[in-house]
Amino acid sequence: MAKLLFFFLVFTAAAALPEEEGGGYVGVNIGTDISNFLSPPQLVSFLQQQKLTHIRLYDSDPHILKALSNTNIRVIISVPNNQILGIASSNTTAANWINRNVLAFYPHTLITAIAVGDELLTTIPSLSSILMPAIESLYAALLSSNLHNHIKISTPHASSIILDPFPPSQAYFNQTLSPIILQLLGFLSRTKSPLMMNMYPYYVFMQNKGVVPLDNSLFNPLTPSKEMVDPNTLLHYTNVLDAMIDSAYSSMKNLNVSDVILVVTETGWPSKGDHSKEPYATIDNANTYNSNLIKHILDRSGTPFHPELTSSVYIYELFNEDLRSSPISEANWGLFYGNSTPVYLLHVSGSGEFLANDTTNQTFCVAMKGVDGKTLQTALDWACGPGRANCSEIQPGEACYSPNNVNNHASYAFDSYYHKQGRVAGSCDFKGVAIITTTDPSHERCIFPGSKIISNRTDTVVNSTNATSGVDASRLIGMEGLWGVILSMMMYL
Ligand SMILES: *[C@@H]1O[C@H](CO)[C@@H](O)[C@H](O)[C@H]1NC(C)=O
Ligand SMILES: *[C@@H]1O[C@H](CO)[C@@H](O)[C@H](O)[C@H]1NC(C)=O
Ligand SMILES: *[C@@H]1O[C@H](CO)[C@@H](O)[C@H](O)[C@H]1NC(C)=O
Ligand SMILES: *[C@@H]1O[C@H](CO)[C@@H](O)[C@H](O)[C@H]1NC(C)=O
Ligand SMILES: *[C@@H]1O[C@H](CO)[C@@H](O)[C@H](O)[C@H]1NC(C)=O
Ligand SMILES: *[C@@H]1O[C@H](CO)[C@@H](O)[C@H](O)[C@H]1NC(C)=O
Ligand SMILES: *[C@@H]1O[C@H](CO)[C@@H](O)[C@H](O)[C@H]1NC(C)=O
Ligand SMILES: *[C@@H]1O[C@H](CO)[C@@H](O)[C@H](O)[C@H]1NC(C)=O
Ligand SMILES: *[C@@H]1O[C@H](CO)[C@@H](O)[C@H](O)[C@H]1NC(C)=O
Repeated sequence: MAKLLFFFLVFTAAAALPEEEGGGYVGVNIGTDISNFLSPPQLVSFLQQQKLTHIRLYDSDPHILKALSNTNIRVIISVPNNQILGIASSNTTAANWINRNVLAFYPHTLITAIAVGDELLTTIPSLSSILMPAIESLYAALLSSNLHNHIKISTPHASSIILDPFPPSQAYFNQTLSPIILQLLGFLSRTKSPLMMNMYPYYVFMQNKGVVPLDNSLFNPLTPSKEMVDPNTLLHYTNVLDAMIDSAYSSMKNLNVSDVILVVTETGWPSKGDHSKEPYATIDNANTYNSNLIKHILDRSGTPFHPELTSSVYIYELFNEDLRSSPISEANWGLFYGNSTPVYLLHVSGSGEFLANDTTNQTFCVAMKGVDGKTLQTALDWACGPGRANCSEIQPGEACYSPNNVNNHASYAFDSYYHKQGRVAGSCDFKGVAIITTTDPSHERCIFPGSKIISNRTDTVVNSTNATSGVDASRLIGMEGLWGVILSMMMYL
C-alpha cells in the first residue's frame, strides 16, 4: 500500500509543476568524429526535422553556431579541456573567448550555457586547481557584457566523483575534491547555474553485474522484489538513473547545498560492442534504455527524493562517431549513423513531438537466444494452446515454418500472443524466456504479427493448429506479469 501512495503523490506533484523552460527536457550531445559528416546547414535541418531543440556541442564550432542562428534550438557550447589553462591564467584570454564564441553569435543563436571542460577533475586531476579560476574569468567576461543572467556557466563531471552512490542517501563527493566542489557549488548557487553530471547506468550495470539487475538499468517495469529500497529514507528506486540523480542531490546536501539543480549532461547506452566484453551493448538494450529514458523524463515525475524536480538530460549521443577507436562501443552510442539514418527506431509514442522518425509501435516479442530447447518448447506449447496465439503460420508448409527450429517457432508464437494481448506489460515474459525487440524478425515470406512490412505473398492456406498439451497459465504469466502491468501503469501514468 505504501508503494501505491508513493506513486500517487509523485503523480500529483508532477502534475502541479509549471511547464517552465528550466527542466524536464531531453537534449542530445553532438560529437563530430564522423567521416563525411553532415554540413552545418544539413545538420540544422536534420535537428529541426527531428524536433530536437536542446543540443550540447563539445566545442564552439563557428559554422555550426552560425547555422543555428534564427532557429529555436538551444545550445550548450564547451570550452575544450586544452583551452582551460589559457583562460584561467588571463582575463583577457577569457574575454576574447567570450567575444569569439558567444558575442559573435548571441542572441541570434540561442546559447544557453557554457560547459567549461569535460570531466576535468577526473581526467586531468593536475588541472583541478585552475578549474574555478577559468570559470570565474569566463563569468567576469559574461558579466561585463551583461549576459550573465542569460547564459549559465558550469562544468560536467564524471559520476565517479560521487562515492558510495548506493543507497543514494549515503552518497558523498570524493573528499579529496571537496574544496573545489565546495567552491564550485558556491558559484553555481550564486549564479543560479546547474550542476552538470555525466551519468551512465550502463557502466554501473557493467561494473556491478549480478548486483544491479539489467531491468533496473534499462528502466524496465519491475517486480517489487527487484526494486531498490534506500534503508535510510525507505524510498523505492525502480531505476538506476534516478538513484544516481538522487545520490548527487544527497552529496550536495551533505555539503549543505540545497538550491542547485542537476542537469544530466550525458547519458545513454551503446548499441554495439565487443561480443565477449560488452555483451549488453545491443541495439535492443540501447533502444530500450533511450526510449524509456525519454518517456521517463517527459513524464516529469522527478525522482523519489525530488519528485517535484525533473532533471533535464542530454542523450549521449545523436550520431555514431565512426572515427572513434576501441573499444567498439565507443563508436556506437548514437541514435543515428553519421549520414542521419537511424541506428534503431525509438519507441516513444505518447511523448509528444520528438524525434520525428519514431515509429513507436513496432515492437516484437521473440524467444531469447541461448535458452534451452525444452523450456522454450513448453512455452511454445502454452502460447499455441491455452495462450491462443495464432500459430497457423508455423505449421509445416506455411511461411514461418522455416527455419524449422523451436527458437523460430517460439518467437512467432510469442509475438502473436504479445500482439493479441495489446502488447501490455507482462505479455512478453513466458517465464523469462521471451524478450521485446524493435528489430523486425520477419524473414523471406514470413511476416511477423505487428510488422509493417506489407506482405506480397498470395497463398493463404491455413493449416490447422496443433494446439498441444496445456500448461498451467499461471506458471508462465503469473503474479510477475500482473505486477508488471500495475507498475508500468503507475510509472508511465
Ligand atoms: C581577473 O579579474 C578578476 C576581477 O575581475 C580578478 O579578481 C582576477 O585576479 C583576474 N585574474 C587574472 C588572472 O588576472
Ligand atoms: C578521490 O579523488 C582523488 C583525486 O582525484 C583520487 O586520487 C582518488 O582515487 C579518489 N578516490 C576514490 C575513492 O575514487
Ligand atoms: C553543514 O551544516 C551543519 C549544521 O549546520 C554543520 O555542522 C556542518 O559543518 C556543515 N557542513 C559544511 C560542509 O558546511
Ligand atoms: C524521417 O522522417 C522524415 C519525415 O518525418 C522523412 O522524410 C525521412 O525520410 C525519415 N528518415 C528516415 C531515415 O526514415
Ligand atoms: C500505437 O499503439 C497504440 C495502441 O497500442 C495506439 O493507440 C496508437 O495510435 C499507436 N500509434 C501509432 C503511431 O501507430
Ligand atoms: C491466423 O493467422 C493467419 C495468417 O496471418 C490468418 O490468415 C488467420 O486469419 C489468423 N487466424 C485467426 C483465428 O486470427
Ligand atoms: C498440416 O500439418 C500437418 C502436421 O501438423 C502436416 O502433416 C500436413 O502436411 C500439413 N498440411 C499442409 C497443407 O501443409
Ligand atoms: C515480394 O517482394 C519482394 C521485395 O519487395 C520482391 O523481391 C519479390 O519479387 C516479391 N514477390 C512477389 C511474388 O511479388
Ligand atoms: C501434436 O502434438 C502432440 C504433442 O507434441 C504430438 O504427440 C502429436 O503427434 C501432434 N500431432 C500432429 C498432428 O502433429
